[in-house]
Amino acid sequence: MKIWAVANQKGGVGKTTTAVTLAGLLAEKGHRTLLVDMDPHGSLSSYFGFEPDELDNSIYNFFQAVANGVRIEPEPVIRTTRVANLSLMPASMALATLDRQLGVRKGTGLVMVKALREVRERFDYVLIDCPPVLGVLMINALAACEKLLMPVQTEFLAQKGLERMLKTLEMVQRNGQQPLPRVIIPTMYDRRTRASIDAWAALRNSYPEYIWESTIPVDTGFRDASKAGLPLSMLRPRSRGVIAYSKLLQYLLRPEQTVVELKAQAS
Ligand SMILES: Nc1ncnc2c1ncn2[C@@H]1O[C@H](COP(=O)(O)OP(=O)(O)O)[C@@H](O)[C@H]1O
Ligand SMILES: [Mg+2]
Repeated sequence: MKIWAVANQKGGVGKTTTAVTLAGLLAEKGHRTLLVDMDPHGSLSSYFGFEPDELDNSIYNFFQAVANGVRIEPEPVIRTTRVANLSLMPASMALATLDRQLGVRKGTGLVMVKALREVRERFDYVLIDCPPVLGVLMINALAACEKLLMPVQTEFLAQKGLERMLKTLEMVQRNGQQPLPRVIIPTMYDRRTRASIDAWAALRNSYPEYIWESTIPVDTGFRDASKAGLPLSMLRPRSRGVIAYSKLLQYLLRPEQTVVELKAQAS
């Protein structure tokens, strides 16, 4: 089971859209895919018709279980969606109170690691949609994932949220561990605007080692897809947005090169 987190400490940059679209493409390929909504706003849950203020079971259950010292029960939290191979662990409003409730209590940062361990036989891929704030939820997502996807809107001041995110990452980076692999994804790219062109160039310039070489274009289909409650690939399989995310997925799924191979290439 592979676990990817989608994060940026800025709202409206395409985090939820990236999680839904990539998950839809993975599910279409036949991979058993799980989306995890870790944003108390619950926009990912709402996307699939689960209202965060009406849910009895959400990932909040896991935090409660750990706080009460009882076993984590993932079953009641997992919901199927209208999409084959695609399941969801929804958020609920209660998540917004977590930081106040358990802020610095020991073990709180590893709740999602434990919860996902319970489902590791059931899914091939897990995509975690993160909140835009640094807190218990973000810490949990970063601890649980093996790859971090960072959508960045190609606009003026795009780098501000990203810099904050990278600083957060440094702060929470566990001692002695390998740095978390990360991919910067330029989103909402409009090649007709100066702001997009400049922002993309600045990102490539500042983060050549992390940036994905292409962009996700502006595509109004994403709005229609969220209204329909389906990944865009199921609504408009040939749209520009889907083509771009398919290319991104191909990049994310490429076989990781080993250090030995990289060294051989360099010499
Ligand atoms: N590539 C895109 N082109 C056009 N609209 C987009 C694109 N990506 C996201 N959007 C829209 O922008 C808004 C914010 O995106 P969202 O994924 O919810 O951001 P975040 O999760 O970072 O807050 C949504 O209305 C979404 O439909
Ligand atoms: Mg979101």
